[in-house]
Amino acid sequence: MAEYTKTIIITGGAGFIGSHVVRLFVNKYPQYKIINLDKLTYAGNLANLKDLQEKPNYMFVKMDICDFESVLELMQSEHVTGVIHLAAESHVDRSIKDPFTFAKTNVMGTLSLLQAAKIYWESLPERFQQKLFYHISTDEVYGALELTHPDGIEPPFTTVASSGEHHLAYGEDFFYETTKYNPHSPYSASKASSDHFVRAYHDTYGLPVIVTNCSNNYGPYQFPEKLIPLFINNIRHKKPLPVYGKGENVRDWLYVEDHARAIDLIFHQGKVAETYNIGGFNEWKNIDLIKVIIKTVDRLLGNPEGESLGLITYVTDRAGHDLRYAIDSTKLQKELGWEPSLQFEEGIEKTVKWYLANQEWMDNVTSGEYQSYYNNMYGNR
Ligand code: NAD
Ligand code: DAU
Repeated sequence: MAEYTKTIIITGGAGFIGSHVVRLFVNKYPQYKIINLDKLTYAGNLANLKDLQEKPNYMFVKMDICDFESVLELMQSEHVTGVIHLAAESHVDRSIKDPFTFAKTNVMGTLSLLQAAKIYWESLPERFQQKLFYHISTDEVYGALELTHPDGIEPPFTTVASSGEHHLAYGEDFFYETTKYNPHSPYSASKASSDHFVRAYHDTYGLPVIVTNCSNNYGPYQFPEKLIPLFINNIRHKKPLPVYGKGENVRDWLYVEDHARAIDLIFHQGKVAETYNIGGFNEWKNIDLIKVIIKTVDRLLGNPEGESLGLITYVTDRAGHDLRYAIDSTKLQKELGWEPSLQFEEGIEKTVKWYLANQEWMDNVTSGEYQSYYNNMYGNR
């Protein structure tokens, strides 16, 4: 039997970001055993990890993070040394319709994992040494920023981040690690609550924890309820593109593999009890981003330029819609030397090409086919 130097549970590994993190860790660290713990909700799809099925250091466990007894048993039987926690309900619109599920998974599920890690690691002679509970969170916990116009200049304008570097921004303020939490949606409130529990386990019991707060991710394998994959797919099928409100909200976009690389770096070199913001200083007003997506998809499909602009449909705004997110990731860049590897234009091109080339993946997801396939293999969810 292979001797592994670390055994890491990655929760939510069948989801969008989790699948990229699992892939990176399994391939880069054959000396680690990687356990993908996932309930396979509607958002979990093992087709995202098809290429890893035969890897000896990869194991999938279908489990609910809320099932405390089973989580504890798994940690004990597998001698788990680290947890990278991504499992969550992640879509803001769903949280508005069904806040209870968000509180259950995001708050109680995180608490169940924390308690299991605490109990198991405390039972070992070395206790918390060489152990880490790494919690993946979001910039949405900080609330929303204003769109400001300094000296009457229309955004975007050049601002100076705390690193001293110049960036294009839609306002003068950013989210820092020190920014006070001020969540507005049931989703962000549940994530904020889970972040507080993670820090409380450090302060109260000494559990070694790290929390990171990242901006909007995009790239392959994102569930097509989120803006970018939804719009790419709708353009392909000539369906309306539902723009919330006036399309004036601003999001800060990061290519998902750059997030996974940051997670790898922080897992190995981050300081216990610290928080790191992750983001690429890449703000886009929704309507401008949508026009870039339309242009790229039309070009790659050979449609006349601008053909799909006519699909834009302004619809009722999302309740409590946060106006602007913008992450200052200077701490991560300065202390650990991370920086995004892709310019946005390259990232979007790569992403659109991936969705167009993987229509079967998209069709299986939109038809629900992927659920019955994996239900047969792992039992009903
Ligand atoms: P996702 O919705 O694509 O995937 C979530 C995964 O968690 C799925 O595989 C699902 O099956 C699993 N899951 C849900 N409930 C579970 C439960 N009770 N037990 C076990 N597994 C369960 O989410 P994502 O977009 O990949 O986000 C992953 C994490 O990163 C989340 O914690 C999210 O808050 C955070 N985050 C996301 C973004 C983003 O832009 N997507 C940005 C910053 C932070
Ligand atoms: O900031 C990080 C967060 O980014 C993550 O924590 C969340 O898990 C993730 O879902 C994402 O949240 P958003 O709400 O920003 O992402 P979403 O893709 O749902 O929406 C992006 C923007 O586009 C937002 O301003 C709402 C708008 N939108 C979205 C959809 C789905 C539309 O205008 N129309 C749409 O159909």
